[in-house]
Amino acid sequence: MDMENLTSRGGTSRIIVVSNRIGPVEEGKSAPGGLAVGVYEILRSMGGIWFGWSGTVADQSSVTPNMTKDGNITYATIDLGRKDYAEFYAGFSNSTLWPLLHFRTGLLDFERQCLEGYLRVNDLFAEHLIKLIRPNDIIWVHDYHLIPLAAALRRKGAKNRIGFFLHTPLPPRAVLQTLPDHGRLLRTLAAYDLIGFQTEDDATHFNDYMRLELGATAAGATLLLDRRQFRAGTYPIGIDPAGFARTADVASGQSATRRLKRSLGDRKLAIGVDRLDYSKGLPLRMKAIDRLFSAHSNWRDRVTFLQIATISRSDVRQYRDLREELDAAAGHINGRYAEADWTPVRYVNRNVNRNTLAGYFRCAHVGLVTPLRDGMNLVAKEYVAAQDPEDPGVLILSPFAGAAHELDAALQVNPFDVDAMVEALTQALVMPLAERRRRWRSMMTALQKQTVRHWATSFIDNLTATRTEVRRVALAHVSDDLTVA
Ligand code: G6P
Repeated sequence: MDMENLTSRGGTSRIIVVSNRIGPVEEGKSAPGGLAVGVYEILRSMGGIWFGWSGTVADQSSVTPNMTKDGNITYATIDLGRKDYAEFYAGFSNSTLWPLLHFRTGLLDFERQCLEGYLRVNDLFAEHLIKLIRPNDIIWVHDYHLIPLAAALRRKGAKNRIGFFLHTPLPPRAVLQTLPDHGRLLRTLAAYDLIGFQTEDDATHFNDYMRLELGATAAGATLLLDRRQFRAGTYPIGIDPAGFARTADVASGQSATRRLKRSLGDRKLAIGVDRLDYSKGLPLRMKAIDRLFSAHSNWRDRVTFLQIATISRSDVRQYRDLREELDAAAGHINGRYAEADWTPVRYVNRNVNRNTLAGYFRCAHVGLVTPLRDGMNLVAKEYVAAQDPEDPGVLILSPFAGAAHELDAALQVNPFDVDAMVEALTQALVMPLAERRRRWRSMMTALQKQTVRHWATSFIDNLTATRTEVRRVALAHVSDDLTVA
């Protein structure tokens, strides 16, 4: 499918992708995260327009978008003014919605002013977009920064098909209720035609919230609310497993990986790669590493733990606190167990490029992906795809990552149970080759079923079909007009 030129009745449709963060994210800049990686992968192969924040904070938000073309991706980006950045990005998106969506109500900071800033920036996005879109364009909006974007576009007269994909988890109703004025925000989702989630659980939470909290009614798979009809579905985001395997193969012969291998000597490598985020469970992971060396002293000097934790959202207090906590934890473990020629924990805050990471993954005997809650977690998938089929490493995976649903052949472990993580580590470090191969094959098969291409095409196909299907079940009085504010 060529995303820039879908043919629909009445003309040619283009795909307009909208997200706050757009890719590719350069080395040395902030960590990309699953969204930028997944969307970039798709647009690079299928083409389309990508609208979003430039990553630059200026005195004022941009008046017109900056347009650039790179291959078959056209980027349309805007700078955010200081106030917009503080209230929309650091404030409501990352101090309120992010903890809420990751079940961390105790970390939630809410300020009415930030909610207003969030709605204002969504209006600003809509103002730019409405000038860019044509009647037949299909608009695909991504993630929690842009929940009310379709409602803002509808108010400006957009009649296009608009889809929304949430990359994070969606918690159950009781958690969503802790957000002040939650109904005002969440009912704007009715302005989309299709709303996609990573897992069945997320989609169920959405349906329950819409029906029980907002009084939406269901007609088959269609929900009706505020004279709007929309659908929800599950679309687990994937990677390009074959492509990533090739990258890892090539990278493993290159100097960065060779240097890493040489520096390890005969020791085994366990690796973790995460944005420095409290949802990733890093302090508990460090605790497990500490306990591995204290309770199983035979592993001292025989395994090295490489944690790459790229700095993220450092204007938000919780992220700064976490950074201090992890600096201390890594320093503490090294102070306690290091020898003149062995450092138990190598703790790296730099953003490492994905090709280099692929090589690191391939030479790591153990991949540790132990978030307390995560929408999907593409690192888990990339670690698997990067393995040498003849001698694969072992993935230790939290059941609270969306990826755990597909990767059930990983060693799954509850990240709140430090002793269980230590047991999984020792099991992984001595796991026989036959078992490693069996688990790896099963996981690789799962990855091949749900590639990033499959994710995008099934979402776009379903979005394209919504209006036709929805009209078929439509009640005569239901109009296309949007009344949600
Ligand atoms: C997660 C979110 C994305 C976000 C990414 C990086 O993957 O779901 O929306 O872009 O983290 O975070 P940042 O705040 O740097 O964009």
